[in-house]
Formats: sequence, structure tokens, C-alpha cells
Amino acid sequence: MPDALPTIGEALRNGARFLKESETPQLDARTILKHVLRADDSALIANADSRLGADDYKRYLKLLDRRAAAEPVAYIVGEKEFWSLPFEVTPDVLIPRDDSGALIEAAIKRRDKNEPLQIADLGTGSGCLLCALLTEFPKARGVGVDRSEAALAVARRNATRLGLAERAGFVAGDWLAALSGAFDIVIANPPYIPQGDKAGLSRDVAAYEPPGALFAGKDGFDAYRSILKDLPCYLAKGALVLMECGADQADSLAVMLADIAPENAIFTFCDLANRPRGAGFDLRKAEKKD
Ligand SMILES: C[S@@+](CC[C@H](N)C(=O)[O-])C[C@H]1O[C@@H](n2cnc3c(N)ncnc32)[C@H](O)[C@@H]1O
Repeated sequence: MPDALPTIGEALRNGARFLKESETPQLDARTILKHVLRADDSALIANADSRLGADDYKRYLKLLDRRAAAEPVAYIVGEKEFWSLPFEVTPDVLIPRDDSGALIEAAIKRRDKNEPLQIADLGTGSGCLLCALLTEFPKARGVGVDRSEAALAVARRNATRLGLAERAGFVAGDWLAALSGAFDIVIANPPYIPQGDKAGLSRDVAAYEPPGALFAGKDGFDAYRSILKDLPCYLAKGALVLMECGADQADSLAVMLADIAPENAIFTFCDLANRPRGAGFDLRKAEKKD
């Protein structure tokens, strides 16, 4: 990196070159510079020939170093967009993934927007799934559960920032154990990576994201087993259950769901890239028997 103060355009180009190990060097450099300058994309473009101040440049270089050490950009800037909503993220929470939008789409497809639904989000993390659902279902209320108090603090702040605090509660507990009542939608993105797959994860994920949000025993299905054991007691009549899983897990998860739901109510769903992303059941679809 040059010693003289660069223009915004130069800083972006040099930053992207510096981050050559990243899969998205331009985007990373741009996101970090926007964060440092508290600017948006159009401001960067309009001021491409303006020179950075010394303090801003120093901070930019420091944050680029963190990214070069594989720290995810979302943790560096403290924010990640999900479902077009801004979410605070800290190292205590999983970074929301665009692919998890498949869960929100699956809910929107199956329920009317104006239904006064009761929602439970198991393993809420940043609260991204619950908050996205509450913005899509304006008459719904929901509760997010996590065993991590630190994650719940982030989720509460996110709900407040998005103006959803009155409709969103957050409780600490082991999956459903802390809840009472019956829910119209149960959504969950639990840990699902087999412990043995740790070595195959990218450094961004393995070194920085909370292990308690990633791993679920030898085969990756421990969390589903724990949740499904208690789930029937928490389902309202005609409930919808949506669970995220890994691309190669959807069929096995669907088989597990068949232990607690009629076969014709069970479905799998895909993400934007058309990879299997989850399984669930819709008890409204269950065959009526005479
Ligand atoms: C894969 S992350 C999902 C976070 C968020 N829902 C999302 O989609 O970005 C799984 C979450 O489950 C939580 N978790 C793990 N085991 C749990 C348990 N036994 N009870 C409650 N939450 C748990 C973790 O702390 C983590 O926040």
C-alpha cells in the first residue's frame, strides 16, 4: 500500500489488490471503505478523486489487515443485510446468509400476510429470521430462542432498531424448553454441520463464526433430533414448520419429519441457486380423513 494519502478511487483499487485472497476483493474493499467514511456507494463514486484523510486512511488499512486475516467483512463493519433489512452482527452470532431467505419465502408462499400468527424462531442468533418474518407478516408476533445470552442481546437490539420490539420477544433456553403455548409457524436454522467437517470449512467461517452456531454432532442432525422430540407439543392447529439444512440433508430431514407429521404435509424447499435448503411440513395441507 502507498504511504501518500490516496484518493477514494485509488484506495479502492489498492484495497482490492491487497485482498487478493478473498473471493470478493472489490466488494470487500468497498464495503470497508464505506464503513470507514460512513458513505454510500454513490458518495464513493461522486468523490472518487477526493483524497482520504490521514485518520480514515489509517483505519481503512487496519480493517483491510483484519480482512486479509480472513475475518468476515460483516464482523469488521458490524453489520449484514438480510431480506433487505440491516442487521447488527457481532462474533456472538452467525452472519445471516442470503440463502436463509428460502425460509422466509417458504413462509410467505404458504401463509396469508394478514394472519395474526404466533411465530417461534429456534436458534434465533441475530434475530434475522424472526425480524424478516415479522416485517412480512405485520399482524404476527414472535419469540426467538437461543442458548446464547450474548446472541439474544444482539437479536433484541436488531428487533428494536427495526421497530419490531413490541411484537418480538427473546428468551434464553435449550430449543423449545423455555417456551410455552402453541405456535402457528416454527422456523429454525439450527447448527447442522457434522463435527468432522470442520477441517473442510473456509477460514472465514471456521476461525470466526461461533462454533455453537455451526456444529451438531457426528452426523450434523443432533439439533434436529432435540427439536423434533418436543416439537409436537408446541404446534398450533394447522401449524407450519420450516427448518433450514445443508444441501445434502433435506431428504434425510424430511424422513425425520415423517415421524411427527403426515407424509402429505411434508415438503422440501430450495435456495436461490436451486440447491435443497430445507424441509418442513404444513399441517393445513394434511389430508383430511373421514
Ligand atoms: C445456525 S445459527 C442460526 C442463527 C440465525 N437464526 C440465522 O439464521 O442466521 C444457530 C443458532 O442456534 C443457537 N443454538 C445452538 N444450540 C442451541 C440450543 N440447544 N438451544 C437454543 N439455541 C441453540 C446458536 O447459538 C445459534 O445462534
